Formats: sequence, C-alpha cells, structure tokens
Amino acid sequence: MNDDLVQPYKQGDDLDAALFAKIRKYVYEKAKINLGDNKMELVRARFGKIIRQRQLKGFHDYFNWVRADASGDALREMLNAISTNLTSFFRENDHFVFLANTILPELAKNPTARSGGKIHFRVWSAGCSTGEEVHTAAIVISETIAKPEEWDIKLLATDIDTEVVAHGRRGVYDRERVDSGVKRSLIDKYFTPCLKENGREAYQVKDTLRRLITFRHLNLFSDWPFKRKFNLIFCRNVMIYFDRPTQESLINHYFEVLTPGGYLFIGHSESLSSISHKFEYVKPTIYQKPAASR
Ligand SMILES: C[S@@+](CC[C@H](N)C(=O)[O-])C[C@H]1O[C@@H](n2cnc3c(N)ncnc32)[C@H](O)[C@@H]1O
Repeated sequence: MNDDLVQPYKQGDDLDAALFAKIRKYVYEKAKINLGDNKMELVRARFGKIIRQRQLKGFHDYFNWVRADASGDALREMLNAISTNLTSFFRENDHFVFLANTILPELAKNPTARSGGKIHFRVWSAGCSTGEEVHTAAIVISETIAKPEEWDIKLLATDIDTEVVAHGRRGVYDRERVDSGVKRSLIDKYFTPCLKENGREAYQVKDTLRRLITFRHLNLFSDWPFKRKFNLIFCRNVMIYFDRPTQESLINHYFEVLTPGGYLFIGHSESLSSISHKFEYVKPTIYQKPAASR
C-alpha cells in the first residue's frame, strides 16, 4: 500500500500546497488534466463540497479515500468536480456555418461517402459537456440536408464527466438557456416545453434529434472503441486542460480516426500552431485530414 494512504488524519485537515501538488499529479495521471497553480482555490471549493456531503474529515482523508476506492466511482466524482463544463447552443457559430455550407455539400457530392445507397456522415463531439454542441450540430444537419432519407447520420457525444453525459442524454435544458441560444422557429421545431422536477420551465430536445445521437462516458486518454471513422470531430475548448505533449498526441490520434478529407474543429481560443501534426489548415480553428491520406 502507498505510504501516505495510511497517514493519520489531522484535525482541521486543509488543502495545503504539498497536498495540492499530489492531487495535481494524480489528476494528470488519470485524465491528463493539467491543474494550474491558480486552480488551488477551485479545488478547495469543489472538493470541500464533496467532503461536506460525504462527511469526510478533510482533504487528506478525501484524497486517501479516492485512491483507495477500487470501484473508480470516487475518482469519477472527483473528475466531475474539477471539470469545467461551460458550453452553449450555437457556441462559436462559424463552425456550424462551415458544416452547413461546406462539409455537407462536399459530402453529398463525394461518391466515396456513399455505400448501400446512403451518404454516411459520422460526427464526434469529444468533450461534449451537457450536449448543447452536439444538439446544435444535429439541428444544423437536419436543417441543411434536403433529402434525409438519402443519409445515414450518427453523432457520438462523449465526456469524462458522467454527470454532463447523463444531462446530455436526457436532453432537458433550462428554458433561458435555449431561448438565449436558439432561434424561435428552431425551438418550435426541435424542442418540447416541459417542467423540471423542481418546477423550473425547460425544454426537452425532440426524439427526431435525440435518436441521431449517442452519449457515452469516455476519458479521451483511455482506449477509443470506435468501429468506423468520423467525417467530423468537434474538440472545442477541451485542449485547454492539457499540456502541449498531451495535446499533440490527442490531435494525432484524431487524425487516425478521421476519414480522408474529414474535418477537425477546435475552440476559437485554441490553435495547433505549436503542435506537430499532419492536418491541412483550412481557416482559423478548422483543420482537414488530406483526402489522399489514410
Ligand atoms: C469547456 S467544456 C467544452 C464543451 C464543448 N465542447 C464546447 O466547446 O462548448 C470541456 C469539456 O471537456 C471535458 N474533458 C476534460 N478532460 C477530458 C478528458 N480527459 N476526457 C474527456 N473529456 C474531458 C470536460 O469534462 C468538459 O465537459
């Protein structure tokens, strides 16, 4: 057993710099998430909440408990607590315009995208948070394609945070979130008004969209169990968590699971300029796997 697993608990067990350093290392090993020096207060606040809820003695006690938990549930809860899930409908809208105006028309003309009489389109929202990104993509696709019966469309949405994955799968969003991001005509077409358990007004995404999307828990640094390649990967506002070598290996892994000619979208504040990769630059935050590559 690891020595400091059996360290006696001290009353008033707070988060000090030494423990924060151990937590950082542990989180990096498990999820490659790089907690900067400035994240100590965030960790104190978010872990403090779990410590109170679980009536643990303090931060050392909590960290020992997470590491001793063979089920992995405590680790999942810890990662849920530190992930930052900020997202919204139609966030960074240029990507959705590019999807509608370039990717879908290109694919419709591309004979290699067809098999069994259908045009196959596979999209992955990697680091999907609560699902606004993938639902926006599904709306844009549904609005753009003229003959849905000619298409075989599947969207995969994955995240390391189990709670956001469950949220996305339910597809229920507070009314203000939807009203502030989605045009009225699209709300009427793709959402059904509902009430949450707490009585708040909300909308649920209609089944026409939900049946196109699969939500799954996935740590980007675990094995990727995909059978088919993707035509488009959204990895937006996720790489900010990772250091440069981790970003580089992730980007090169995306390259492998894209079809030739497939696209990668990254967040508007992100860039691949300091990373060695084989993508072609299309325009800021949009990259393409060369059509000639495998
Ligand atoms: C800021 S959100 C971005 C959501 C969405 N892509 C967007 O741009 O609106 C970042 C997401 O990345 C997820 N994430 C962080 N590290 C991850 C990892 N190692 N594997 C999978 N998802 C991860 C977080 O849980 C979080 O939901």
